[in-house]
Formats: sequence, structure tokens, C-alpha cells
Amino acid sequence: MSFFGRLGLFLAGVLTGTITTIYALRHVLLQRFFVRQTPRSGDVEHWSGHVEPKRDGLRAKHTDVSTAIAGAQQNPGDVSMSTTREPPQPAWSSGDLRRCTARSCLGPNVTSIHRSVLLLATGPSRFSVFHTAGFFPLYVSTTDEDAAALFNQSASGIWFPVDHFWDLPFVDFAADLIALDVAPFVSNRTMLSEVLTETVRMLAQLGVLFLLGGEEFPNLALEQLGAAKQLEPGAMRQSFVRKLGLVPDLPTCPNCGMTPMMGQRHQRPSPQNLCQAWVQPDYLSIFDPEVRGKFEASSESWELQRLRLWHRPNVLDSREEVKNWVKKVSTSDRAWYNDNYVSSEPNKREWRFSQLITEGKVKRLLDAGAGSCTLEGTLRRQRLLSKLDVYLAFGAYDCSMLRICAERGALSFQQNWLKQMPICASCKFDLIFQVEGLHHNKDVEAHGLFLQNMLSHLACGGLLYVQDGFGPWVEMFHQALTSQHDYKVKVKQQLKDDFYIHRLC
Ligand SMILES: C[S@@+](CC[C@H](N)C(=O)[O-])C[C@H]1O[C@@H](n2cnc3c(N)ncnc32)[C@H](O)[C@@H]1O
Repeated sequence: MSFFGRLGLFLAGVLTGTITTIYALRHVLLQRFFVRQTPRSGDVEHWSGHVEPKRDGLRAKHTDVSTAIAGAQQNPGDVSMSTTREPPQPAWSSGDLRRCTARSCLGPNVTSIHRSVLLLATGPSRFSVFHTAGFFPLYVSTTDEDAAALFNQSASGIWFPVDHFWDLPFVDFAADLIALDVAPFVSNRTMLSEVLTETVRMLAQLGVLFLLGGEEFPNLALEQLGAAKQLEPGAMRQSFVRKLGLVPDLPTCPNCGMTPMMGQRHQRPSPQNLCQAWVQPDYLSIFDPEVRGKFEASSESWELQRLRLWHRPNVLDSREEVKNWVKKVSTSDRAWYNDNYVSSEPNKREWRFSQLITEGKVKRLLDAGAGSCTLEGTLRRQRLLSKLDVYLAFGAYDCSMLRICAERGALSFQQNWLKQMPICASCKFDLIFQVEGLHHNKDVEAHGLFLQNMLSHLACGGLLYVQDGFGPWVEMFHQALTSQHDYKVKVKQQLKDDFYIHRLC
């Protein structure tokens, strides 16, 4: 054989050997260089090579949209952003999300600014990731028992029966993140469609929806339901990002969707009545690059920056064609509006209980008639919120007030205190705080109902504190205290317009 013949044979042998070796080691090499990234401490098991199987071209769509969104959301110092590499895509089942313990494992669509989280129908145990710093979770359970179990795990929540999930007491754009377990609804397509419409209505623009329990009910089916028009696939399987603005060919939900405090819901979101949250043309989501670009990695936390940086005009027109409460009060009493309702440095003047929280004597707090969540802002600034086990807030004049909560990244639900509360029967609070609202109770009977409903959720030894400007309500309230409720209490007044009501058991 010639020299060149022998050289050819030698090279062919080397090539064959190399190919055989690579083939034999292909799993190790793929894991090392493409799939398995060294997890940061705090990341969880499900990063480790659990890769979504390709299905129906959905994977390609995910890649495009997640890259676009991640690019638009670039933020200096924000470790949860990814721009160049498609992240691993774990299958989102309830178990996956439950095992997640750090913000980074929620994927690149969830930024450092995302804060408020609604967990809908997710059962009796809490999701640890949403109890880490920077989140504000609220569970909506389907039974009293689930709500009680969560309360006992220091998780705030309310409950509604499954057939009421089409009518949840949260404003349009209420939550930055929503985890919905579809399992209780999948057997009834109409119900599922209603619940999804309701869920997407409550999701912030560029907020993220995680659908759980939907393995039997893949994304394709979601696209046949109207809610999907407002969503883009998220970076994780079964996660979705709410689009910016209004989408074409989908009517807006009348009167900002939810049932008002006094009155009836304007429209049930049935499959025939699909609707989207209305948004004013100059609305700027907190996650819009123009706003979020103002956030920076600094000594001030993302949560505190949010109190400062949300776009104030967003709440002036929260309903189509109807002048809302915010619009009226921001023009008629501007100084009071700025100070009491939208201040960057929320300060609830009537609040005098910080010490009780610091000393651990108040762990469960209910803000009744919370308005625009100024108390929550006060507690956030004082770093007291994290010392509480449970914090719940409810009651606003209209949805414009609740939209201020939403912009601040806090959750408050709409509820009339004259009606039975959607709080589990055994859930009791150490402190119930109500200020500036009792003059709205018309008569002694209304004050009696208020007392009945609040005292039924006050722990033995707990305190119901009320204060409002001096007026006829004081005498009526006094009468109700002595006659119209079922509970044994000890009452003290420090000012002529306040009451300290201790529950004795
Ligand atoms: C003047 S605002 C004060 C808001 C908040 N407490 C604050 O100090 O910023 C009065 C609040 O009382 C609430 N309120 C009045 N009547 C109510 C009722 N029947 N049920 C629930 N909330 C009520 C209103 O919704 C409103 O949020």
C-alpha cells in the first residue's frame, strides 16, 4: 500500500474512534454543556435536567416570546433576568412549583419587582417560594378547611366555594403573579372558561400566570378559551405572560369586572361574555420598560422603590366612561389625596401599634376598610410586615382605590363588613384595625353587624381598634357595643372618637 493509502487508513481509524467515543459519552456531554447548569445556592432540584418534551411546535413559540420579554425587561443588577440562553423548562405541576424555594426558579419572566401573588384553589399547603422576601402572597381556597390549614401555616387567605370562582373580589390587574390550580374546574368547561377569564382579568400587565394541575388539559385547549387572547406563552411550560394594553376583538369587562362593595356584579364572565380588563390609553404597567427602567439595584429594596415609582396617572381612569373615586378626590382634595392615599412614604396617622408587632404580641392583623393599602405601605416601610404571620386587608370605595393597592404591589379584597366575611371560621386575628370608615355605617344596626362580623374573627384577648372623625357615629357605635353583638368585651376610649375593644373569652 502506498504512503497515502496508509495515511488515509490511519485517519479513517482516528475518525471512527472519535465518533464512537463521542457517541458513547453523548449523555454526559449533553448534560454538561447544554442542559445542566450549575444551580446557584437556593435553586431547587427541578432545574436538574427535567426538560420539557417538544410538543406541537409550542416550544418554538415559548422561545421567541420569552426571549422578547426578557430582552424588554433588562434591568441592571437583576439576577432573575436571562437574555441569551433559553432557560431549562420544567413541567409546571403543583409539585414543581411547591418545591421551588427561591425567586430565581420561577424563571426569567418573574422580575425582582413582581411582588403580589394570588394563589387560587391551590389546596391546603403553602408555596415556600412566595413566602420569601419580596413577595406578598394571598391564597383563595375552595374550602373553609383549606383556608384554616393555610392560616395555621402563617399564610394569609380567604375562601370561596368552587362555583364562586368566577366572581373573585379582586380588582382588574390586582396581582403581579397568579398561580391557578385548574384541577377543580377541568371537568366543567364552562366553569373553566369563566375562571380563566376572571383570573386573567386580575393579572397585571406583564404579570405571570402559572397554571397548575393542568397536565390533563394542555395549553392547546387554553387557546380555545377567550382568556388566552391576552396571554403570551411564558418561559416555563404552563406559564403565561399577560400582554400589555388591550387586545383586539375582546370586549372590556363592565365596571372594572368585580362586584362592587354595595351592589351586584355587572356581568358574569360566561363563555358568551368573555371580557378583558379595561385600560386607559396612557396606562403604564410597573413592568413596562419605561417604568421599570427607573428601578435600580440600591440600598432601597425593590418593594420600597415600588411605593415611589408606580405611575400615578394609572389610577385616575380605572373605569371606562365612569368618573371614579380617585378622579373625584384627587381634584377636590389634592393634598389629602396625596398624603392619605398615594404617598411614596405611606404614613397611617392613626396607627399606633408598631410596638405590639415588634414585641411579637400581634402576629395576625386584619385591616378593615383598608382603602388604598396605606397601612400596608406603612408596615412595609417600617419592616414590620415580615414579622407578621398573617396580614389581610379589605374594603375600598371602588376599584380605583384597589388599583392603588395593585400599583403598590399589595393585595386587598373587596368586601362589605356588614356581610359575612370570606375568612375561615376558625381564623382569628390579634388585631383588627379600622380607621376613617365607621361614619359610613348608617345606624346602630349597621354598627352591630360590623361588630358581630369583626368580633367573630378576633382572637381571645385580641384588640379591635376603631377610630374616625368625631360625629354621630360615636354615639351609635357606643349603643351597638352595649347591645348588638354576641361577644364579651372590655371597652376603653382614649380619644372622643376612638374605641379599644378587647375580646374576653
Ligand atoms: C376614608 S377611607 C379610609 C381608608 C383607610 N382606612 C385609610 O385610612 O387610608 C374609608 C374606608 O372605609 C371603607 N368602608 C366604608 N364602609 C365599608 C363597609 N361597609 N365595608 C367595608 N369597608 C367599608 C371604605 O371602603 C374605605 O376604604
